[in-house]
Amino acid sequence: MSTLINFFFPLVFLISSVFGVDQRPLFRDLCVAINDLKDAVLVNGKLCKDPRLVTTNDFFFSGFDEPGNTSNTFGSGRTLATIDQIPGLNGLGISLVRIDFAPKGVLPMSYLREGSQILLVLDGTLYVGFVTSDPANHLISKVLHKGDVYVLPQGFPNIIYNVDHTCNAVAIVAINNQSPDVLSSKAIFGSDPMIPIEFLTKSYKFEEKVIEAALKKWKMDES
Ligand SMILES: *[C@@H]1O[C@H](CO)[C@@H](O)[C@H](O)[C@H]1NC(C)=O
Repeated sequence: MSTLINFFFPLVFLISSVFGVDQRPLFRDLCVAINDLKDAVLVNGKLCKDPRLVTTNDFFFSGFDEPGNTSNTFGSGRTLATIDQIPGLNGLGISLVRIDFAPKGVLPMSYLREGSQILLVLDGTLYVGFVTSDPANHLISKVLHKGDVYVLPQGFPNIIYNVDHTCNAVAIVAINNQSPDVLSSKAIFGSDPMIPIEFLTKSYKFEEKVIEAALKKWKMDES
């Protein structure tokens, strides 16, 4: 038996390394995102900045010391450090977001299509949670204080808001996606063109006038 194991072990090892037991990203080279084709090269088949032209600023972003603008109907503001701000994130599958909350401010109901989040409360008191899929629709949540960390697994609707009446709150969220694609309540009430009212009315079991009022508010926010 042990000879058999000795014989098969290298084979099993080889198979597991080929078929993805290794969870590190496959990306092994620098691929700083670039818009100007003139200085671009292909790395792993992707268009990247010529590595000889890469500079320190391709990996740098400043501004997380500044609060985001919470003067909106939600009372929250996000500061992004994704591939749009840091081209060096290309191919790395990570990004960072700062979220500021006014008293009772909410992050509109949203979920990331791809990317789990790990949230750190820098200041204030936040209610943080997510809802699992049908049919259980289990709400998994917690009230967090300064220094608390919470994980939001990818693909579930997030519920994040400041429960305090008087104090602001700040959170830093790390995401395993370099350009997280967000779907929020705007996708429902602020779509372009609008989703038919009769569909929304039945889907949400609301009176038509309630849906109409909501749609009007979303339109006003945009103008
Ligand atoms: C914050 O956003 C509001 C609404 O868009 C705007 O009127 C205001 O000038 C912004 N404040 C700052 C400091 O950027």
